[in-house]
Amino acid sequence: MMGFATIMDADAPLLLFDSGVGGLSVLAEVRKVLPAAPVIYAADNGGLPYGTKSEAEVAARVCGLLGRMAERYHPRLICIACNTASTIALGMVRDVLNVPIVGTVPAIKPAAAMTRTGTIGLLGTAATIRQGYVDRLEAEFAQGKRLLRFAAGELVGAAEAKLRGEPVDPAVFARAAAGLRDQPGGADIDTVVLACTHFPLLRDELAKAFGPGVQFVDGAAGIARRIAALTAGQPFARSIGDLALFTKQDNSLAALADTLKDAGLERVEVL
Ligand code: DGL
Repeated sequence: MMGFATIMDADAPLLLFDSGVGGLSVLAEVRKVLPAAPVIYAADNGGLPYGTKSEAEVAARVCGLLGRMAERYHPRLICIACNTASTIALGMVRDVLNVPIVGTVPAIKPAAAMTRTGTIGLLGTAATIRQGYVDRLEAEFAQGKRLLRFAAGELVGAAEAKLRGEPVDPAVFARAAAGLRDQPGGADIDTVVLACTHFPLLRDELAKAFGPGVQFVDGAAGIARRIAALTAGQPFARSIGDLALFTKQDNSLAALADTLKDAGLERVEVL
């Protein structure tokens, strides 16, 4: 990894990768700390959702796509802005790509520091919540606490729909809250880890569904700080508008136009 900063083009982009629009919750935090950084936001909409796929499928897509994207766009750093992809494939991607890689890890550590009741809820995709990666985070950082997990993959579609400007049935959020609350000890949850980058996009809806007394925590601000630290001292200058990159041409691209514009993504390409 040595030497990256020494021959850095000022317009070399940061590449943020997710299955869909979830990583925009990470991009928003990155913009706050690195407003001048050129960005490619890549969404594998052809593979969405990841949360219902097998580990092998997710790993193959993520490694293959990031390899192609790295070759084509020469990013200075790649952020896997997706918990599912990170908890499954972060190590593999690091092994094969000669670019600094920042992953997205469920924010169990900060949640353990924040909880007063000692009971933490975790909402993620089905694929994320079964990962050994999450077991290890729990063992390391949530010892003596109770961590209740619920697969709320339905929220991924809800976030996608919301950002396309479509209405979402509030029953979706009620089911996510009940999925944690109805577990033994669930009534004591005072802190909920949003362990999928799509979920912070639904924070208001989830807060309503959980009711007062519950705080939400996600990793986006920490990831942005990590990216800033890894690129400290590097020159940043945009020579062209930031790019939204998709893996499949479909109707959702037009429906997301306003969302992409709001995120500062001025151009759209399909890989
Ligand atoms: N945004 C992704 C995550 O953080 C996954 C959504 C999906 O494709 O299932 O896990």
